[in-house]
Amino acid sequence: MLAIFLCFLLSAVTSAYPARGPCTGDCWTHDPSMIRRESDGTYFRFSTGTGVNTMMSPSLQGPWVDVGRAMPNGSIIHVDGVDSNDIWAPDVHYQDGLYYMYYVLSKLGTQTSEIGVATSSTMEPGSWTDHGIVGIPANNAYNRIDPNWITINGQQYLQFGSYWQGLYQVALQSPLHVGSDAPHQLALNSSLNHRIEAPFLYQHDEYYYLFYSGGIAGSYTATYPVQGEEYRIDVCRSTSGTGGFVDQTDKSCLESGGTLILASHDQVYAPGGQGVLNDRDLGPILYYHYYSLAAKQSGGTGIDGYLYGWNELDFSTGWPVVKAV
Ligand SMILES: *[C@@H]1O[C@H](CO)[C@@H](O)[C@H](O)[C@H]1NC(C)=O
Ligand SMILES: *[C@@H]1O[C@H](CO)[C@@H](O)[C@H](O)[C@H]1NC(C)=O
Repeated sequence: MLAIFLCFLLSAVTSAYPARGPCTGDCWTHDPSMIRRESDGTYFRFSTGTGVNTMMSPSLQGPWVDVGRAMPNGSIIHVDGVDSNDIWAPDVHYQDGLYYMYYVLSKLGTQTSEIGVATSSTMEPGSWTDHGIVGIPANNAYNRIDPNWITINGQQYLQFGSYWQGLYQVALQSPLHVGSDAPHQLALNSSLNHRIEAPFLYQHDEYYYLFYSGGIAGSYTATYPVQGEEYRIDVCRSTSGTGGFVDQTDKSCLESGGTLILASHDQVYAPGGQGVLNDRDLGPILYYHYYSLAAKQSGGTGIDGYLYGWNELDFSTGWPVVKAV
């Protein structure tokens, strides 16, 4: 008994991170976006995939049910060489009676990409009206993927980007279209291929926190990145939300700064594609996808091996820390 207790203590001490929250039902996800419906509190989880996979649940932990595709007929956007049903990286928010979903069509590993937007009053599959591209100009500096919406002092912005010159932000003139200001850079890792993507900006007290995914994403079939170079979640913060992001050591996030908050541990391999939900009951929740270590050890199952993870976030030190549930 004592030995068992000691083992438990040791394993609790040796894991670098607390356990993720539980999940029942359909726990698959990829680049999740999570939101609660205003009318009934139902949780929605949207994922990269054909027509945007939609899951619903009465609670964060489930039981999650796959209810179908947000956009069963695909997007109206035409991107050369890309199937318009193959929609990536949804980002959903609620504003003035409508839900807005930003999404991406992209050719993997190229800058041939567009960000679009659709609206719905219920978020039910098939209820989305597609408005097409938001109009971010093409530029060699960035890739137009991984959109994320925020409002700062009444001005709406989209954060986006990956690789090339890192993460960017652009002001919106309306939720459906960008304004005339050119996008500006928020963060860059100058090493290797500038492997940062999936920005998610979140306000808490006097700071704006820029969560992003660093390292190598992948469908993890046969080959894996060198240990430590796989996906992980970092954060920077700023008081303005439009620039001046630094990490916990005060290093500029335009100069490779960034504070690690979640990396591979236990059954969780390569967490990323994250977002933060300010849950009306539980407070700030970090949600993400990870690759199941069991799937990895069995030789890899491609994107089917992605699972949904979540943890509460503690901001009491001024920097977010992943907590046990
Ligand atoms: C999808 O296309 C079919 C055939 O044109 C149409 O009947 C249906 O209403 C469309 N669904 C949506 C959600 O747009
Ligand atoms: C920047 O990228 C390098 C190479 O991938 C990585 O080792 C380093 O941890 C990254 N920096 C941050 C702050 O994530």
